[in-house]
Amino acid sequence: MTRRPYIVGNWKMHGTRAMLSEARAIDRAAQRHMKVEVAIAPPYTLIHPIHREAEQIAVGAQDCHHEDGGAHTGDISGAMVADAGASFVILGHSERRTGHGESDALVRAKAGAAFAAGLRVILCCGESAATRESGKAVAFIKRQLKASLPAADQLPADIADRLTIAYEPIWAIGTGTPATADDIAEMHGVIRALLIDLLGAEQGAEVRILYGGSVKPDNAAAIFAVSEVGGALVGGASLTADSFMGIALAASEPFDG
Ligand code: 13P
Repeated sequence: MTRRPYIVGNWKMHGTRAMLSEARAIDRAAQRHMKVEVAIAPPYTLIHPIHREAEQIAVGAQDCHHEDGGAHTGDISGAMVADAGASFVILGHSERRTGHGESDALVRAKAGAAFAAGLRVILCCGESAATRESGKAVAFIKRQLKASLPAADQLPADIADRLTIAYEPIWAIGTGTPATADDIAEMHGVIRALLIDLLGAEQGAEVRILYGGSVKPDNAAAIFAVSEVGGALVGGASLTADSFMGIALAASEPFDG
């Protein structure tokens, strides 16, 4: 892996202005871990205040609408989050797919809109426990990812920089137990092969693939040692600077050589 490891905190629906001190602490610590790219995706309401103060970390959104604007009460577009200071957006998280009924086609449309708004995209995929138990996880991920990504001719030329994939098995999110190294290695290998197939050898090899699902400071090093793991998308453990930066520290070590 030639690129810096990418450690992204997904704050989900956590955080009021009281959390700005935590974001400050993450930003300060990130300045001491320059081998790692650190970012957080707070709720929409904190994007601008964090962006305004941040010196090192990137700030992103957890979703955006597939249109630029219009009569969509309660929705926020990619252009709006970019205007607030977001440089990236997480799309297709399983909590949106299941909680808001987002289809692969909608996620694909959102990705197209986000790229058009100049954002980088972290595109999530992940199978349920039932899909894994039925032995269909690999086929499911291939299909989900292919259907959630815009067609190759709709993608920006600098796609390797603009796109990150996050593999987040639903059964590992928020459980305290991440997927095993073997499961992660298998799925990241499948995703890498698919990216090369879709984007060509050069760009497909460069796109980072993050693992997400119960990443903590004490299991992070083992996860980062797995082949094709380019970083982590972290939920619960990203809510305090101590635990989040413990993960960032673990990410800097395998790459020291
Ligand atoms: P946890 O790290 O809390 O398991 O959440 C993972 C996740 O869903 C990040 O997007």
